Amino acid sequence: MDLPRHVKIVEVGPRDGLQNEAVSVPTAVKIELIERLAQAGLPVVESTAFVSPARVPQMADQVEVMTGIRRRPGVSYTALVPNIKGFDAALAAGVREIAVFSSASETFSNKNTNCSIVEGFARFNAVCVAARANGIRVRGYISCVLGCPYEGEVQPGRVADIAAELLNMGCYEISLGDTIGVGTPGKTRNLFEVVAGKVPLENLAGHFHDTYGQALANAYAALECGINVLDSSVAGLGGCPYAPGASGNVASEDLLYMLHGLGIETGVDMDKLIAAGNFICDFLGRPSGSKVAQAIAAKRV
Ligand code: HMG
Ligand code: MG
Repeated sequence: MDLPRHVKIVEVGPRDGLQNEAVSVPTAVKIELIERLAQAGLPVVESTAFVSPARVPQMADQVEVMTGIRRRPGVSYTALVPNIKGFDAALAAGVREIAVFSSASETFSNKNTNCSIVEGFARFNAVCVAARANGIRVRGYISCVLGCPYEGEVQPGRVADIAAELLNMGCYEISLGDTIGVGTPGKTRNLFEVVAGKVPLENLAGHFHDTYGQALANAYAALECGINVLDSSVAGLGGCPYAPGASGNVASEDLLYMLHGLGIETGVDMDKLIAAGNFICDFLGRPSGSKVAQAIAAKRV
């Protein structure tokens, strides 16, 4: 299949990237990061999560973040929502697009959200009904699509069934998450082919963590399958508190470099994106996880 001409990058750095950071990031720093990412041209910036502050302390300032950002027209500032309590809080904070998150693994579902996969569906269904009534767009995530830290192998057919469930509930897009970054391009291709048997390709996205250094290769395999929405995290930040050892998402700078090198449009400005990555890395006091950001910084010395 031909590669897409345009790819929508969903920037998840402020949420997936920061949720696992041990040091508390001040709200003002999060807001500046989000605004810089939007200024770089990213069309979607996942900004926070309306989850339990006891479970993910880094996201405890979700209301302040969502009400503090100066919004750029045309940018969607999304937030994770696990249940109706989170939905009500997100709505009150002015969120216009949310994401619910399921899992292809029962154990991961229980550890991450304290409920089974099917119990999760009931929660998400209630969220989707409320979202529809309020004109809120809902994205869906499925974690552990290429492997689970607790259960190991995951069957693509199981991912397809869950994706179909989320689509039927009203999720306009379902992002398939390789939470622990164990996938390889062949497995990624097979996964998208199987899931596309139940959910149209135009409703699917790829979300690749780079734990085993395969994220960019997996993103390319997804493009070859016809996927034109990819999640990434500035400076390669990221991880999940309930997926021990999982490293960051594919770095947005590296994904952008590959896409532009392939002649694929994104609308994102590399220099501004790198500056946003440097801003958060300076705060965190460590080098960027993006190879492209490192290479460009080395050239400038
Ligand atoms: P629970 O423990 O089942 O909920 O939490 P509960 O109803 O028993 O309530 C327990 C406490 O949580 C109560 O407070 C509730 O009020 C509170 P208490 O009475 O003890 O003081 N609570 C909430 N507080 C704020 N916001 C809420 C909320 N709901 C209940 N929405 C819940 C269920 C899902 C909320 C909890 O288990 C949780 O927050 N888990 C964390 C999930 C999370 O954020 N995980 C990381 C993101 S997922 C990810 O990274 C993967 C992804 O990137 C894709 C990939 O890479 O694969 C998306
Ligand atoms: Mg993730």
